[in-house]
Amino acid sequence: MKLPILAVTALALATAVRADLPAPDPDDGGLKLPPGFRALVFADNLMVGRDREFGRAANGSMSETLRFLAVAPNGDVYAKVKRGGILALRDTKGTGRADLIREFGSGGGTGIMLRDGWLYESSSTAVYRYRLSPGQLVPEGEPETIVSGLPAGQDHDAKCFAFDDAGNMYVEIGSPLNVYSDGDRAFGAKGKDPTEFQKTHGGVWRFDPNKLNQTQADGFHWSTGHRHMLAIAWNPASRALFGVMMGRDQMNTVDPADYDELDNAFRVAEEMHILPQGANLGWPYTYYDPIKHARMLAPEFGGDNRKRAEPGKYPDPLIAFPAHWAPLQMSFYFGNQFPGKYRGGAFVAFHGSWNRAPMPESGYRVCFVPFNAQGMPTGDYETFADGFVGFDHEFTNPNDARFRPGGLAVGPDGSLYIGDTEKGRIWRVIYTGKKLPSGTGAAASAAAYQPPQRHPIDDGSHGGKIFSQICAACHMPDASGVSNMQPPLIGDPIVAGDPAVLIDVILRGPAAVLPPNRPKYANVMPPFGAAFSDQDVADLASFLRKTLANGAAPVTSAQVAAVRALHP
Ligand code: HEC
Repeated sequence: MKLPILAVTALALATAVRADLPAPDPDDGGLKLPPGFRALVFADNLMVGRDREFGRAANGSMSETLRFLAVAPNGDVYAKVKRGGILALRDTKGTGRADLIREFGSGGGTGIMLRDGWLYESSSTAVYRYRLSPGQLVPEGEPETIVSGLPAGQDHDAKCFAFDDAGNMYVEIGSPLNVYSDGDRAFGAKGKDPTEFQKTHGGVWRFDPNKLNQTQADGFHWSTGHRHMLAIAWNPASRALFGVMMGRDQMNTVDPADYDELDNAFRVAEEMHILPQGANLGWPYTYYDPIKHARMLAPEFGGDNRKRAEPGKYPDPLIAFPAHWAPLQMSFYFGNQFPGKYRGGAFVAFHGSWNRAPMPESGYRVCFVPFNAQGMPTGDYETFADGFVGFDHEFTNPNDARFRPGGLAVGPDGSLYIGDTEKGRIWRVIYTGKKLPSGTGAAASAAAYQPPQRHPIDDGSHGGKIFSQICAACHMPDASGVSNMQPPLIGDPIVAGDPAVLIDVILRGPAAVLPPNRPKYANVMPPFGAAFSDQDVADLASFLRKTLANGAAPVTSAQVAAVRALHP
């Protein structure tokens, strides 16, 4: 829709640049922004050094991360720490930087939001709230429990929430699975009837936030058929809930005959939807292919990369974002600082991909989706903030990115706050309307960050090829793993140790073989017994031991057959 000229002028006047904005950093804190936008670092290194504090594995398997953000009417910023409490940050001197930082609460989690004098926050199983009087930085006393006992699996356990105009609270309860099937992510996995599972998972539940100590059963089951959707927000113009769903992974390991690595890298959209009451987005039966622009049948439910879902049964996304970008916090912009085109639109933070191997990683940005006055998206998305990874070349390991966007919230003066999950930097993005002075902007610090050199370990052998086609998507082409998601295999005692254990881990998956007190990872490794012959497993294990364990003795197919025979 084209606005009449008068309206355009009115919008331009309404966004006259404010005089009271803080000075941007010369390098915009490393961010690349549209013309007229600048950034400054509001707080930095909030997560650095916290792993030791929480006593986790020294190999970095569980590094602490900064999650979602909320900004109070006085400009105080609140940030959730995944396994810690809540950080309260205040700029007492008006420099645009937090100089007073306090931590309170515990229990970890992701969701946080301010509403009517309450600070709401969620763990992986509950939503709580603290009373916060105007101007108070740290709440006093214990939080109230709104709802507890929500189901949480190993993965996708964050409970994000949003409020509508009437004050109802919508809590998203994800699915800890890739697809509902026997053998999640496993070769040949077959879909199971999700009816019972979906009564408590993969949907949004509506609660009265003023009623304490509720259970999931007290909530109203609002919508269903989603995998996981941390990005949810209420749009006051359309008076509707919107969300961006994370699409599934690993079609190529489930059905390698019909899907290859490139299908895995490109063919499953992250889907933005409007969520009216009763919405069903079609998970686990379907996924949305952003190249075909079509809703497709999942391989677990008979899909073959060609069969489409029953027409009209499930909605197409309003916006199909590229595969694996991992949408996190979303916020509608109703501030008065940014130019008119941003008013009413949605900002979405994308954490960035981890499993696009052999393609380079992507995502790692904040996108903007323009919405019209009726509160509906007008076209496609655009990249708003970029430069988080800290360098311009391609990379294959998420650990190499300097920053990863996660939290995102609009301040009372219309500034946009963006949080980095990994090191814990928080930027404040402002609109100055000015051209970038020379020697400033992200380019000013372009050489400041150098990622490590990576060398894929595939040596062209049969075992090396299996590794790069199947294992590298999770363990990375250089076997260095991804913090929190999957362990490195370099120097791994299982690879170097008793061959029977390594074989068994490959055949039946770690969960069936390794002790329960091992370090926890957010991802799940499927069993590969049905996918590989004895010779495949022997070649793969021998390759891993040769390359990663100083040439530990090779494994024979007879050894594999013997281990396989123990669990027919
Ligand atoms: C879908 C992602 C994924 C894929 C694909 C995958 N893994 Fe894993 N792998 C993991 C995760 C996650 C763990 C840790 C799981 C746990 O401890 O429960 C793991 C653990 C392991 C371990 C044990 C490491 C330790 O010290 O605990 C080995 C060995 C291993 N993987 C080898 C492989 C090989 C070989 C392949 C290819 C056939 C492969 N993995 C494919 C995700 C994956």
